[in-house]
Amino acid sequence: MSASNVLIGGGTGFIGSRLCNILKNKGYGITVVSRMPGIQNISWSDLHAKGLPKDTTAVVNLAGQNVMDFRRRWTPGFKQNVFTSRINTTISLAKMINEAQQKPSVFVTISGVGVYKPNQEKEYTEDSKCEEFDFFSKLCKNWEEAADLNVEARNCCRTVTIRSGVVLGKEGGMIKQLYLPFYLGLGGPVGNGSQFMPWIHIDDLINLIVYAIETPKVEGILNGVAPQPCTNKDFSKAFAKALRRPAFVPLPSFVLNLLLNKERAVMITEGQKVLPKKTQAVGFKYKYPDIESACKAIVSEK
Ligand SMILES: NC(=O)c1ccc[n+]([C@@H]2O[C@H](COP(=O)([O-])OP(=O)(O)OC[C@H]3O[C@@H](n4cnc5c(N)ncnc54)[C@H](OP(=O)(O)O)[C@@H]3O)[C@@H](O)[C@H]2O)c1
Repeated sequence: MSASNVLIGGGTGFIGSRLCNILKNKGYGITVVSRMPGIQNISWSDLHAKGLPKDTTAVVNLAGQNVMDFRRRWTPGFKQNVFTSRINTTISLAKMINEAQQKPSVFVTISGVGVYKPNQEKEYTEDSKCEEFDFFSKLCKNWEEAADLNVEARNCCRTVTIRSGVVLGKEGGMIKQLYLPFYLGLGGPVGNGSQFMPWIHIDDLINLIVYAIETPKVEGILNGVAPQPCTNKDFSKAFAKALRRPAFVPLPSFVLNLLLNKERAVMITEGQKVLPKKTQAVGFKYKYPDIESACKAIVSEK
């Protein structure tokens, strides 16, 4: 049995599967909580029935219905699924930590920059006050509060919540949706492209989760965004340049509002300037601080 064992909710996804690989390479033991059977998986009902696997030293939650699954309409039922798949899984893990005889040392959860109200002038850091103003801000607040339910275990279990920007990597998320149109030279900014687009390269997000697991002084909220903010237009230019394609074809916001529903499209049509003040203050170092180097790395990835 490895000395350090990590339990990962949603460890089968875009971020989760990459995290599992990195942790395994570092010698960690891995158990994934999944709705699907698998060699290293347990189900959510197993978790409820049996509690945390023996010798779990860290718990991470990355579970959640994919919001940007464009095949799914933005119906009340889908919204409910988006909500409960994040909140209920986080509550389940927090509850199991509370009930465990042998506590893990850390509980790492993810949330989103949607907690900050879109604004072209304001700069947000982890210290900024957050209020509910739409579906996503309410989701993020409830998600973060769910992680805090392990308050009973606080003395022996650190809680770290990473408010992630758009995660950029070849295998999933936004890049997977945009790769083909940009590759065909049909890419471009959304609307006039001036809206901020908080982002992070997937390697940096994984490294940040590992840093949170391994660094005892890290606790509370961390903004999981690159230190150099960019706009949607900056991203489009950098991604198209990395692919050696033009980025002339703008996508009007109203088209996205129609296709995705305005409430969901806001994640792309509007944005906020988010800085990783605390993330850097606790000593985390980025591999890809700027959008050009991140896009180049993504495009050259095999
Ligand atoms: N990708 C981004 O740009 C981004 C940005 C900010 C925040 N996040 C958050 O980070 C987390 C992971 O993102 P990701 O891109 O890796 O997502 P992903 O690829 O869609 O994976 C999420 C995982 O959640 C599980 N899941 C999906 N629907 C579920 C449901 N209804 N109930 C329980 N589990 C469910 C799935 O695992 P099983 O099928 O094995 O059960 C899936 O592998 C999500 O919570 C997401 O909101 C992502």
